[in-house]
Amino acid sequence: MPADGGTKKTILVALGVCLVSSIFVSSAAVGLSAIIDQNKKIDRITNILQAGDIEYANQDPEQIFTEKIKSVIVEIESGNVADEANLADELKPENFSIMDVTKNPQFTSSISASNDVAGIKTKPTHMIVYEVLDKEENVEKYILPIYGKGLWSTMYGFIALDKDLQTVRGITFYQHGETPGLGGEVDNPRWKASWKGKTLYDDSGELVLEVIKGQVDQSSDKANRQIDGLSGSTITTRGVDNTIEFWLGENGYGPFIEKLRGGA
Ligand SMILES: Cc1cc2nc3c(=O)[nH]c(=O)nc-3n(C[C@H](O)[C@H](O)[C@H](O)COP(=O)(O)O)c2cc1C
Repeated sequence: MPADGGTKKTILVALGVCLVSSIFVSSAAVGLSAIIDQNKKIDRITNILQAGDIEYANQDPEQIFTEKIKSVIVEIESGNVADEANLADELKPENFSIMDVTKNPQFTSSISASNDVAGIKTKPTHMIVYEVLDKEENVEKYILPIYGKGLWSTMYGFIALDKDLQTVRGITFYQHGETPGLGGEVDNPRWKASWKGKTLYDDSGELVLEVIKGQVDQSSDKANRQIDGLSGSTITTRGVDNTIEFWLGENGYGPFIEKLRGGA
């Protein structure tokens, strides 16, 4: 049945409303993209500062970051710090984005199934590492980006390692899609604080830290190398444990840490 005049008008008004709304929404998205990018940058910076246990309350986090942190690019395979002059633009510290780098086949290599404990399939050829400097410009801590599969999502975060190359100084996750109240408890400040001071590597350099199912028995001689699991969230807990095992192991930052131990 052909549409009568009233129906045509209704359709035209509806189409007009859709058009005006879509123009409004898309111009808002374009207009706000610079602010969104800046907010994302600040969010990443504050997470790096939190992981490194660096005080920034009532101060400009970007300024604290610039003053206290030196970014270096590490070649994952060799553990060497890369010469920035020879790096592609995408790998230079000022442009380095883990999300972009890991999407680019030019900058990733595949991980064999038996080594892929973090469930990430490929790994970047290079990673950015943040060195926290004291007033004399000596390195106090290293903040290392990490990521791995949880239950619903890939969890992206940072772990801070003391200059002794054995002790955890902090951890944060800045992006994940785990369930709030369950796996999302990776954001719980008390749980994150429980990582501080834990032993990551023993004296022989072997990775000993583990995130266990259940609670750590504080009287155990392993208590300083164990982290409580997240209750009702065995899969996320295992995901965090696997992420640490991968990134702090020989296929992740192992060669870099080995070189630091040797004084390189
Ligand atoms: C709606 C819903 C959301 C869940 N979210 C998570 C989660 O984010 N992380 C997780 O490990 N388990 C989550 N679980 C539970 C898992 O399905 C699984 O039962 C759990 O990891 C087993 O943990 P448990 O052995 O400690 O009970 C969720 C379950 C439901 C029903």
